[in-house]
Amino acid sequence: MLATMSATVSATVLATVPVHSREGAPEATKTVSRKKDHVELCVGERVSFREKTSGFERFDFVHNALPEINFTDVSTETTFLGKAISFPLQISSMTGGYAEAERINRELAEVCESLRLPMGVGSQRQALEKAEFHHTFQAARKHAPSIALTANIGAAELAKPSVRANIARLIDMIHADALTVHLNPLQELMQPEGNPDFRGVLAGIEQIRASLGVPIIVKEVGAGLSESVARRLLDAGVSVIDVAGAGGTSWAGVELLRAKEDDALAPYQRAFWDWGLPTSECLRRIHPLKAEKNFTLVASGGISSGIEVAKSLALGADMAASARPLLQILMEHGQHALETALLGWQYQVRAVMFLTGAVNVHALQSVELREV
Ligand SMILES: Cc1cc2nc3c(=O)[nH]c(=O)nc-3n(C[C@H](O)[C@H](O)[C@H](O)COP(=O)(O)O)c2cc1C
Repeated sequence: MLATMSATVSATVLATVPVHSREGAPEATKTVSRKKDHVELCVGERVSFREKTSGFERFDFVHNALPEINFTDVSTETTFLGKAISFPLQISSMTGGYAEAERINRELAEVCESLRLPMGVGSQRQALEKAEFHHTFQAARKHAPSIALTANIGAAELAKPSVRANIARLIDMIHADALTVHLNPLQELMQPEGNPDFRGVLAGIEQIRASLGVPIIVKEVGAGLSESVARRLLDAGVSVIDVAGAGGTSWAGVELLRAKEDDALAPYQRAFWDWGLPTSECLRRIHPLKAEKNFTLVASGGISSGIEVAKSLALGADMAASARPLLQILMEHGQHALETALLGWQYQVRAVMFLTGAVNVHALQSVELREV
């Protein structure tokens, strides 16, 4: 009986499995509405991990009652992609490719230019197909001429020779300082129109690296990078690893909210809402690779305060990055509120540094954390 039932269920489910890359609207049109949905859902809906956390709450700083430094001497300055930045935080890759994204990228860029912080634009895949929305990406560079700015493309795209042949256009389009490649197999799998074909991605990365002329950053989008994945990427010549771990925005969650109500797979996909490696765990496992390889380690996925930025560095990262928490502040409270929040995060990093006796960012990377 049970066997018959499960056979019936799986037959029904399989019959309604979304056909990836299915026909319908042209790809570029689908991308426009998808990018818009992503921003709207990330701002207005509960798309965080439900049970799993980034794990930063399991660590506490060892208070140093004898710091022997002056708070006014504490400097949060560091560098990223060869540019000086005011404190170790990037506004992560988010958007571009539909009309309203121009304003978002302009406002994020203006804040980054004024605070000397790096920023990424969202996936430029659609920009390779048509020029209509190029200005929505270009707004970032136009309003932030001096920051470290990163271009963006999905990993599965890099497996396509036609995309690889044109990749330099994405960098030129925004005068980017690096190309960010996002690895998002979970998101593609959950996405109604996703493309879960990840064959040839690593070889694609290795191929473009030789000819690109700017560094390659590889990130996840909230499910994290394991030590073995990081090692394979480093062996392929990647110079910046951004863990984008679990505990912040759940991209399985975002895509499930986009799924149609009658999607028969959705109830089964919900079990993947919390899938992924917590950000703090990714850092702890990848950081030791620094003994063998020269690379920049970025902590992201659920970073929502300056104290978490500081914990990331104490766990071995060189930088942190944050996406949805900052987008929410911008969209709900405006540009001034975003600038105030970022200055608040910078103050928190500086306060942690004073209270642990770390006078510069390099020293913060070796302060002691206790597990609680
Ligand atoms: C609205 C939105 C759109 C995003 N689009 C992209 C994208 O196009 N490319 C990318 O690499 N990451 C994208 N991300 C993922 C983020 O860069 C980040 O890795 C992820 O959200 C986890 O960080 P968080 O917990 O701080 O949000 C997007 C995030 C948000 C909130």
